[in-house]
Amino acid sequence: MRGFVTAYDAKTGDQKWRWFVVPGDPGKPFEDESMARAAKTWDPSGKYWEAGGGGTAWDSLAFDPELNLMYVGTGNGSPWAAKARSPKGGDNLYLGSVVALNPDTGKYVWHYQETPGDNWDYTSTQSMILANVKVDGKARKVLLHAPKNGFFFVIDRTNGRFISAKNFVDVNWATGYDKNGRPIEIAAARQNEKPGDSIPGPFGAHNWHPMSFNPQTGLAYLPAQHVPLNLMDDKDWKFDQNAPGRPHAALGWNTGKFANVEPPKSKPFGRLVAWDPVAQKEAWGVDYASPWNGGTLTTAGNLVFQGTADGRLLAYNAKSGEKLWETPTGTGVVAAPSTYMVDGKQYVSVAVGWGGVYGLAQRATKKQGPGMVYTFAVGGTAKMPDFVQYRMDKLVQGVKYDPAKVQAGTMLYVSNCVFCHGVPGVDRGGNIPNLGYMDSAYIENLDKFILKGPAMARGMPDFTGKLSGDDIESIKAFIQGTADAIRPK
Ligand code: HEC
Repeated sequence: MRGFVTAYDAKTGDQKWRWFVVPGDPGKPFEDESMARAAKTWDPSGKYWEAGGGGTAWDSLAFDPELNLMYVGTGNGSPWAAKARSPKGGDNLYLGSVVALNPDTGKYVWHYQETPGDNWDYTSTQSMILANVKVDGKARKVLLHAPKNGFFFVIDRTNGRFISAKNFVDVNWATGYDKNGRPIEIAAARQNEKPGDSIPGPFGAHNWHPMSFNPQTGLAYLPAQHVPLNLMDDKDWKFDQNAPGRPHAALGWNTGKFANVEPPKSKPFGRLVAWDPVAQKEAWGVDYASPWNGGTLTTAGNLVFQGTADGRLLAYNAKSGEKLWETPTGTGVVAAPSTYMVDGKQYVSVAVGWGGVYGLAQRATKKQGPGMVYTFAVGGTAKMPDFVQYRMDKLVQGVKYDPAKVQAGTMLYVSNCVFCHGVPGVDRGGNIPNLGYMDSAYIENLDKFILKGPAMARGMPDFTGKLSGDDIESIKAFIQGTADAIRPK
């Protein structure tokens, strides 16, 4: 993809303007001055325009009516591997940046790049908070940002100047930022020729689950996480090459990296972090067993609410972090709660339901559903619905296979299935079932489910023309072979 932001006339739907995040083919005229400048930071020998370059602005936009500026958080490089896009390096503007645009014209005003030359899928699309804080005794209009790369940024939102940055979780790609706002990189993280744990991994130290800021405590509350992924540059990567072993290459994904060639050395977890942006340090924090927890809500009543991946909604004292209340929700929560008053009564509502990219193949609850909106009030008397036990069948058993095909099946499973269905019998299955726990009839008749199968309307791709009969036999061998290998003897 080549990322862009478009403004439409709200009444007519006519396009008003479009601003591209990354430059296009340098053989053609640039759309504007900001693209001409950006092109100087890309190496044309990488033909980055073929894959698009990336930078998609898929989440947060913010607007300051006084300054008449809108802020765009831009996405990662595509492919992920910097060498595959821009072999001689370069910052690759405006990937991994906060960009200010004039909302009337779509013209570029300033940018601050949080991850120059992104090499790790570090998007900067995460929620932005416009706050007024005192830095060194002076009132400053700032933008608070905690992108995937694990650093908490305070930026002057009038001009894009860097004020400060500090990591809010462990990171292994940079030791910090210099006074000009450039990251001080750890060389080994960029020279990814051997398998290495990427921390944060592509799920990010903070993803789209919104953070909140409380002007009374001066703290930002952010759903942080540690989800390492073992990555290695694919030096033979070619654009749109459907080759076994390349992560989801059969579905048109172009990462330029191999994933989990070796298992990561640490386990994932989540953490609610209460961050003091002025002091750039944690005021308090709470660890969770699972990453991918819900967005946060903070109130003038000195509360922080958050739903969790393990199926709870909690309330904390915003200043001290003391836990005040919790209730089970049945299913994991990824959305942020909201609060409102009707006829003098205060309510807290939250959409409960597991999902998002991490939730495709993973879950942290023993119960599931129903996904619904829950509303709470002091003195509320409604009964909670019945939660259903999540069904984990026994490991698949008895599918006939040729053990010599397991290796080829592993490679095909990586390029066709793994990020949706997870590792058979190892992951627990999220919103998409884990194939290691299926009834054997599904695996025996795998072709009927993957070639124009009955689940297409629910998101199962059609692999007609992509997988041969022999390929399907190999995938079966991998699924049954893995289940047999991990079955307790
Ligand atoms: C883009 C995500 C995605 C990919 C990639 C994918 N699947 Fe699926 N698959 C799904 C979804 C979604 C369903 C339907 C789940 C449901 O019933 O809600 C499904 C259903 C299935 C089912 C039927 C299970 C059932 O309960 O009905 C089988 C078998 C299956 N997939 C096998 C595979 C195999 C083998 C591959 C790789 C060749 C693969 N899938 C790749 C998303 C995916």
